[in-house]
Amino acid sequence: MSRLVIVSNRVGDPRKAAAGGLAVALGDALSTAGGLWFGWSGHIAEGTDAEPELREQRAGAVRLVTFDLSKEDHDSYYLGYSNQALWPALHYRLDLADFGSGFFAGYQRVNRLFARKLAPLLEPGDTIWIHDYHLIPLAAELRRLGCRQRIGFFLHIPLPPPPIFAAIPGHEWLMRSFFAYDLVGLQTRADADHFGRYVVEEAGGRSLGDGCCEAYGDRVLVRPFPIGIDVDEFRRLALSSESRETERTLREQYGHRRVLVGIDRLDYSKGIPKRLRAFRELLANYPENRNSATLIQIASPTRETLLAYEDIRHELEGLAGEINGEYGELAWMPIRYMHRTWARRRLPGLYRVAKVALVTPLRDGMNLVAKEYVAMQDPADPGVLVLSRFAGAAEQMREALLANPYDISGMAQVIQQALHMPLAERRERHKALAAGIREHDVHRWRTDFLRALADVPRDRPTAASAPA
Ligand code: G6P
Repeated sequence: MSRLVIVSNRVGDPRKAAAGGLAVALGDALSTAGGLWFGWSGHIAEGTDAEPELREQRAGAVRLVTFDLSKEDHDSYYLGYSNQALWPALHYRLDLADFGSGFFAGYQRVNRLFARKLAPLLEPGDTIWIHDYHLIPLAAELRRLGCRQRIGFFLHIPLPPPPIFAAIPGHEWLMRSFFAYDLVGLQTRADADHFGRYVVEEAGGRSLGDGCCEAYGDRVLVRPFPIGIDVDEFRRLALSSESRETERTLREQYGHRRVLVGIDRLDYSKGIPKRLRAFRELLANYPENRNSATLIQIASPTRETLLAYEDIRHELEGLAGEINGEYGELAWMPIRYMHRTWARRRLPGLYRVAKVALVTPLRDGMNLVAKEYVAMQDPADPGVLVLSRFAGAAEQMREALLANPYDISGMAQVIQQALHMPLAERRERHKALAAGIREHDVHRWRTDFLRALADVPRDRPTAASAPA
């Protein structure tokens, strides 16, 4: 088995309790195949000039190799191009995208830095798996340094249709960068379809079938690999004392009420204000829910120095205050809003108590909260998942109640339907959803991707594909 090298902007320590299913699954793959996980340490270096040093830690059998970024690189590559240009654009939010000067150069510079630091650690037979939008051009940079190993890429966020992708300045360069990979994995069939259409409509290339795209005198295989959760790992979490304590406390406090839950990073792509507005309409239009339905909304802080994130925070705080002011009673508040990161170990307890989960992003690569919620339900008396049709998960989870987050009244109706769904229908929907989650779990995602990468025929001069 070839050694595995995983590269991502942030490096997850699979031993830590906070590590999500993804870190655990990638950690498992690294433990079996041997290898290393390479990326940014999450820290900003004190000085700016010196070439950053690599730091190595051991997490069981896994080597974690990280380096610090200078303030300038952090601001232009991470805060700038990655999170103010690519993140909004790939989430269809061109109105929020800032293609500011210096961001693009910083993105290129840091990808070059990643390549320069990583290349000496590589062995000829390695398989390299690069993750997410921060590092799209990394394979091209590695190829330029002479790396001929198999390199796969997985994009965790959406890939929009050609007219949106083409609005990104430098989109041709970005698209060419994908062609330095052997395999590009996307979350959904729709995303893969968008890629194929761009190749034909914008790059003058061809789709050769079975995910093979040809353009720029090169080929790349592009396929959907919908990511899943580690069902057993999550169920084990449910046995933790924190999870059980959370469940007990919530049941005591909300025993006679109906709990709805929303758990997100506080990101504008998650559609939280529209969700709150829909909840307000629910209280206005269906008064039987007053004094009863309680929405627990956890919004964990993220990218807080960016204006768009500050704006969404203020909007949300204002809205939650308004709704509580309008409908709250001494003994009941409609919205419990928390702007904090919750310990992952407590989540199963919350999922179990919630009769309805509201997963209503305006756009999302996949959304694993939807899957975690389903995994935590009691099959005999399961809760109902309200899922945005614009979450990647909606392509697989057809038995959820699909909602359009832009249609506030429609969403209020769907929530009402969820709160009043008969037991037989809840069971039936849950059974189908739970089977899908089990079948398409994170281990299957990982093995399908790595198998497809190992099977890519290598009859092309990969080094030629590096865009200048
Ligand atoms: C999304 C991205 C990840 C990113 C995470 C947290 O899930 O796909 O790549 O790590 O958000 O965002 P942050 O900017 O804190 O790394």
